[in-house]
Amino acid sequence: MDSFFNKDNLLEILDRVEEGIHIVDKNGRIVYYNKFAEKIDAVDTKKAIGRHLLEVYPSLTYETSTLLTVIRTGKPILKVEQTFINYKGEKITTINSTFPIRDKKGNIIGAIELSRDITQVREMSEQIVDLQNRLYNNKNKSNTKENLAKYTFLDIIGENKAMLRLKKIGLKAAESTAPVLIYGDTGTGKELFVHAIHNASKRRKKPFIAQNCAALPANLLEGILFGTVKGGFTGAEDRKGLFELADGGTLFLDEINSMPLDLQPKLLRVLEDNSFRPIGGTRDIVVDVRIIAATNIPPEEAVKNNLLRKDLFYRLNVIRLDIPALKERKDDIPLLANYFIKKYNEKLNKSVKGVSNEVMEILRAHPWEGNVRELENLIEGIMSIYDTDMIELEHLPLKFRKVKGHKGNKSLKDILEDMEKDLILEALHETGYNITKAAEILNIPRQTLQYKISKYSIR
Ligand SMILES: Nc1ncnc2c1ncn2[C@@H]1O[C@H](COP(=O)(O)OP(=O)(O)OP(=O)(O)O)[C@@H](O)[C@H]1O
Ligand SMILES: [Mg+2]
Repeated sequence: MDSFFNKDNLLEILDRVEEGIHIVDKNGRIVYYNKFAEKIDAVDTKKAIGRHLLEVYPSLTYETSTLLTVIRTGKPILKVEQTFINYKGEKITTINSTFPIRDKKGNIIGAIELSRDITQVREMSEQIVDLQNRLYNNKNKSNTKENLAKYTFLDIIGENKAMLRLKKIGLKAAESTAPVLIYGDTGTGKELFVHAIHNASKRRKKPFIAQNCAALPANLLEGILFGTVKGGFTGAEDRKGLFELADGGTLFLDEINSMPLDLQPKLLRVLEDNSFRPIGGTRDIVVDVRIIAATNIPPEEAVKNNLLRKDLFYRLNVIRLDIPALKERKDDIPLLANYFIKKYNEKLNKSVKGVSNEVMEILRAHPWEGNVRELENLIEGIMSIYDTDMIELEHLPLKFRKVKGHKGNKSLKDILEDMEKDLILEALHETGYNITKAAEILNIPRQTLQYKISKYSIR
């Protein structure tokens, strides 16, 4: 083993590590860079090795250099974020951990620093916050009272008992500033409720900011939510996070069950005492932000599966809205269908009157895994393609007509024609309604396709 880990092999191994490694001796002279560190710093290592750290990095001082500090104190410094301009003029952000190196007797002989490059993560978080900021400020400038929360309780359609109860609770929620936790499957209208609560509250003229917590690494989301403060050795800028932008208003945290566990205590703290500390900051910031969180898995399940911390769950679960799936409130389907027909009559300049009884029966039987969104998309899709007074069986996509009992009554010819029509629609859709290209996909002459389009009265 010893012969395997000789110096050459070790250096070769360290060069493959995707983190920067710097080593200095106890006098602060640079001893080693691995390849990655060389890349981050854009330093010519041949020129740098053997020289004093402060000579190669003039922006550092004895006090601000983590390597020199560790040599002085003998204590590791963990996970410090630093932003600096490297020798190529690139702005680089890293997260560094620095450890003393000791000999067998325990005397400090140097220090090693490991740097993870998070430049891109940081850039992304800055962009997201900038965009949210611009969005909010532009809306405000346009002199309209409109804000980013566009819906009100009037836009939430539903007479089902559970829905009426939810609207009542929602209105009550608007009177308070307590946290709200909304659970509902995808497309059930969670966002609608969030907007409606903000708009019915005293905060309606204050910012409404929404942030999805899914798929963002802890570090990125932390910067987005809480901001960063000038720190590290060279100019990390002061950046406001969404909590500061949302001050006085409402912050909607969507998919809270996907918020990294590490970050959840920080959110809990804001909920408890309205204050937080930005990344790299030394002082707390106090804000007045109303939090609404949403999840599309049952929150209790999220707690059980260690996605949501129990303490955070209890703190969020002060006002709770559970929105039922569409298949659990079938009585609202006719109402919603007619509402969307009206909406798209206006939008698409059509005059559809309704759906046939037969179609309504199918809509009531459908499982609606995409909930209200799926119903809305279905109606918009049909109304964009057909010019018709009534939505009939033949206008429904194939998967709806496959429902048992409906196909059974049809002749083979009808079924084949239905399939043909669906294939044509698909090809037209795929090609942006280019008949020549669609005919190519279907492998039929253009004229034949044209004939079939008029036969099936496809628009
Ligand atoms: N009760 C409702 N009345 C009118 N429209 C509704 C209703 N519920 C949902 N919608 C419409 O359905 C679509 C989806 O709603 P929304 O975005 O609120 O769902 P969501 O629960 O946030 O879904 P996801 O979990 O996928 O984000 C929107 O276009 C919305 O306008
Ligand atoms: Mg949503």
